[in-house]
Amino acid sequence: MDIEAEIRALQLDSADNNATLIPEDAKPEEVEMTDKVEEEGMTDEVDTKSQPVQAEPKVKDKEVADMDCAEVPDEMESQKKRHLNVVFIGHVDAGKSTTGGQILFLSGQVDDRTIQKYEKEAKDKSRESWYMAYIMDTNEEERVKGKTVEVGRAQFETETTRFTILDAPGHKSYVPNMISGASQADIGVLVISARKGEFETGYERGGQTREHVQLAKTLGVSKLLVVVNKMDDHTVNWSKERYDEIESKMVPFLRSSGYNVKKDVQFLPISGLVGTNMKTRVDKNICPWWNGPCLFEALDSVEVPVRDPKGPYRMPIIDKFKDMGTVVMGKVESGSICEGDSLLVMPNKAPVKVLAVYCDEDKVRRAGPGENLRVRLSGIEEEDISSGFVLSSVVKPIPTVTEFTAQLQILELLENAIFTAGYKAVLHIHSVVEECEIVELLQQIDPKTKKPMKKKVLFVKNGAVVVCRIQVNSLICVEKFSDFPQLGRFTLRTEGKTIAVGKVTDLPSRSSA
Ligand code: GTP
Ligand code: MG
Repeated sequence: MDIEAEIRALQLDSADNNATLIPEDAKPEEVEMTDKVEEEGMTDEVDTKSQPVQAEPKVKDKEVADMDCAEVPDEMESQKKRHLNVVFIGHVDAGKSTTGGQILFLSGQVDDRTIQKYEKEAKDKSRESWYMAYIMDTNEEERVKGKTVEVGRAQFETETTRFTILDAPGHKSYVPNMISGASQADIGVLVISARKGEFETGYERGGQTREHVQLAKTLGVSKLLVVVNKMDDHTVNWSKERYDEIESKMVPFLRSSGYNVKKDVQFLPISGLVGTNMKTRVDKNICPWWNGPCLFEALDSVEVPVRDPKGPYRMPIIDKFKDMGTVVMGKVESGSICEGDSLLVMPNKAPVKVLAVYCDEDKVRRAGPGENLRVRLSGIEEEDISSGFVLSSVVKPIPTVTEFTAQLQILELLENAIFTAGYKAVLHIHSVVEECEIVELLQQIDPKTKKPMKKKVLFVKNGAVVVCRIQVNSLICVEKFSDFPQLGRFTLRTEGKTIAVGKVTDLPSRSSA
């Protein structure tokens, strides 16, 4: 791929570089121009274009390593329901947990008695309106403060799909937890509060509406349902004007963050608290102007990303514990796993055997890509595993590196900071969180021409696209973005703020295990 195609694939380019950072400044003409670009297929090509690169090694690996696994019927397939991981993202208090809780209530998983109990508990804590959020916010700290801290996890089903809900925290202190949730997701529900003043705070610079969208895109959340929530609130009252205002402000921003708004984004109004326009369409008496789908319908019709069960096995480990052996948790990014498989825990190349595989609460014999699993292993102690390690195919293990080349888009540096060799940040790539240092800036990319600039680059500022070498202190597992987008996208954060998003473009030649 040439550098230009690579930038496009990163989806971080935009017709006007300012639009990336100051979307509200985008003029109507610019928006139209970007639209045209989208129609011509100039943006948002990551998933389609980068897939074929994987085809060859996948088949080979499958033939050698996974023959037995392929014969085993996939319990998940036989259920005839597809599976999607959905992350709920958005600014603090937008209503993510309330909406997630309401989904569970409407799908019959929480009974009235439990709701009454939560209503009482919420009242006792002077948080009356939080009772629906208590379904997702299960620990005491979350309930007392009314803020999600850990990513909540739950399952529900519609006619055609099994969903795993990942309820991310909105508060800026917990962005690393949100990153972990989003990295496990296929699609996102971006919850926006329509309440007077709340949309504005979430959307302004430094608000998590923006940060979450940029992170979600970088972490591979390919489709977004944007739910305009709290439509029942007395400052909104199902106002079409308010809904249109939010949609019209969000569209240019989503576009500049790399989303193809026509193909990959869908807006709809809801009330998570009351449960309106969620399982059934909103009554015309309440909202005469809405003719679109309700949330369950929209979720049901989201297309599943293409996944190849025959790829080399890759499962980044997000957590581990002891339970009759060593149990690791994570989402399968490539390939299939079967009871009895021999695999490696990378980067320490530890050979392990798969004793059991659990998908949600069920023990399964085989599971394919996209599933969130718990895998019981023999051959390794729990203390020898860290999150960020990758359960990996033996025949084609994931590369391990202490250095890689990447293309970065600088979003917003801390005040007075300059981005130059020696810059230190925290790298988040799949489930890895590691301190890193920029060791060399190689090239700056001209945002207008998308071509590398001729003159040598020593430092760059906000909005720049730059190719650089990045170093970490210990071995980490990464892939080139062009081979495995999910394992080759990353974010850099400093002092709790996301300062850049990027993709791995090259690995040192000795990197393979
Ligand atoms: P964090 O986890 O802290 O990021 O917040 P969250 O997005 O999960 O918000 P949560 O569900 O905790 O709701 C925050 C507040 O908004 C609570 O008081 C909810 O009752 C209220 N809320 C959520 N959805 C609605 C809604 O549809 N209508 C109204 N009127 N209030 C809502
Ligand atoms: Mg919450």
